Amino acid sequence: MDSNEQLNRRNLGQATVGSLLTFSLLETLFAADAFADEVKPITADWLLKLNELGKDVQRETITPVQWQAKTEELFAKVNLPDLLKFIDYNKLTEHAQFKKKGEKSYRPKFPTVEGLPTRLVFGHQVFALKKGRSVVPHGHNNMATAFLILDGEFEGKHYDRVDSQDDHFIIKPTIDDKFTVGGCSTVSDHKDNIHWFKATSETGFIFNIHVLNINEGVRSGRVYVDPDGQKLKDGLIRAQKLGYAEAYQKYG
Ligand SMILES: [Fe+2]
Repeated sequence: MDSNEQLNRRNLGQATVGSLLTFSLLETLFAADAFADEVKPITADWLLKLNELGKDVQRETITPVQWQAKTEELFAKVNLPDLLKFIDYNKLTEHAQFKKKGEKSYRPKFPTVEGLPTRLVFGHQVFALKKGRSVVPHGHNNMATAFLILDGEFEGKHYDRVDSQDDHFIIKPTIDDKFTVGGCSTVSDHKDNIHWFKATSETGFIFNIHVLNINEGVRSGRVYVDPDGQKLKDGLIRAQKLGYAEAYQKYG
């Protein structure tokens, strides 16, 4: 073997080792990027925008009604397959249980993603319902909330809460629609405050977010109501206030 041949063999060896190293490194980087692409940007960015809107409505740089419009715009742009991956939806539905009345609530944990705060300004949950079961008619005090249909079909109704008396509200129907996958609606103290969603498919799943404490001094929470009340003029309804158990007994 002459020296040239030795050199060539050494070069070849180095090249091969070098190529292998490069290939291996590239493969690792590619895998890491692929993973990041899979879980990172789309839904994290969407949730970040949702978080900003929540902060904006809490610090009153936008009104609750503006929050509703902006949130509905953002919900209309959701990448649903990516959101479902983000909340590990398949695992959730695989083990989902349903209640005899009303909705079963799940709180899927969001993965830790760079750039997305681990504490978001809004709470989130996924409601699971069987056919014929409802998220019963209820209004909200001092809250801004949104629904996004993840699966199934629903009859969705909203009402404005026009007035509140001791034992009843005066309400006005605002939305009465069929909601399917990707459909969304929002609630604030000022618009479409009461909602009622009944599953019309075998099963149905809703993604819900809620921002509490829009104003100081008023406790955030649900108030239950019976929209099947006395019809008044101008489409208004005298709707009895209900307790939790009564509401689920009648509408759950
Ligand atoms: Fe609600």
